Amino acid sequence: MSDIHAIPKAELHVHIEGTLEPEMAFALAERNGLARPAASIEELRARYRFRDLQSFLDIYYANMAVLRTATDFHDLAGAYFRRAAAQGVRHAEVFFDPQAHLARGVPMQAVVEGLYSAVEEARARGLSADLIMCFLRDVPAEDALRTLRRAEPFLDRIIGVGLDSAEVGHPPDAFAEVFSLARTMGLHAVAHAGEEGPPAYVRTALDVLGARRIDHGIRALEDPRLVARLREERVPLTVCPLSNVRLRVVDTLSAHPLPRMLSEGLLATVNSDDPAYFGGYVADNYAAVRDELGLSQAELRQLAVNSFEASFLSGERKAELAAEVFAWALEQQ
Ligand code: ADE
Ligand code: ZN
Repeated sequence: MSDIHAIPKAELHVHIEGTLEPEMAFALAERNGLARPAASIEELRARYRFRDLQSFLDIYYANMAVLRTATDFHDLAGAYFRRAAAQGVRHAEVFFDPQAHLARGVPMQAVVEGLYSAVEEARARGLSADLIMCFLRDVPAEDALRTLRRAEPFLDRIIGVGLDSAEVGHPPDAFAEVFSLARTMGLHAVAHAGEEGPPAYVRTALDVLGARRIDHGIRALEDPRLVARLREERVPLTVCPLSNVRLRVVDTLSAHPLPRMLSEGLLATVNSDDPAYFGGYVADNYAAVRDELGLSQAELRQLAVNSFEASFLSGERKAELAAEVFAWALEQQ
């Protein structure tokens, strides 16, 4: 059997705060003189049974309160990049949620400089990485605008903007202005859409926000015209199978629509979303879809090639990394 960890791959949908393992949450609480997130690590982990996206977000935002200093952000990202490298990740585009940290009084500088110092260390070890700043869609758009302004001194360290948090009832439209401004600043635009929300949110993310990549997007399958558009425009979808099961977006992994997305010719990729909460990092997601959905070697290879194609890397670098995927596939024969 192929070693799924060894396929060269890009991770394009991971929230750095979602990589906060309980062990690190306890260590940071101790280091910062804060209350522990729960009575014990086991008790905290036992809470990770979610009804839906909101029930996850409640715990996710509560736990990240242990992140206070640039060193905390550095250590969090450093731990993720080490794990990602062991999972075959050659390139990562990593989300962070600055508004959640600014609201606790953590300066933007501590967040970005802490994360970016870990990015530079990862690059020095051969894992390319970039940062994407997400806006919280359940917070008024004026706050997103203020956040973008506060990020301006650091834009040499951020490649794009995204949109995340509670989706239903928070369509993308309200964020048109901040996304437009971000795009004029040279930032890429991506957005979560079609995770819990309807296909219309996917369309609005493309048309109103100018999103070049859709995070999740699985509910787009409900609308055949939208599927045709996503295929024709080669819009990448960053799919997160274990997340979808844990947040009950799909009933079971064996019912996940990833095979249909591939057979429809969509530019689907596999990612981990919030791996500390959903039971696996990116290679674990590849293994899960191989085992539960019976994906073939050729489909796994396609997912890995798609991951580079869907990235914001240069065309030349995409081609080099895709060639590494084909070299891996040859070795498997
Ligand atoms: N923030 C962290 N994980 C998220 C998800 N799966 N959907 C929306 N916002 C998120
Ligand atoms: Zn996400």
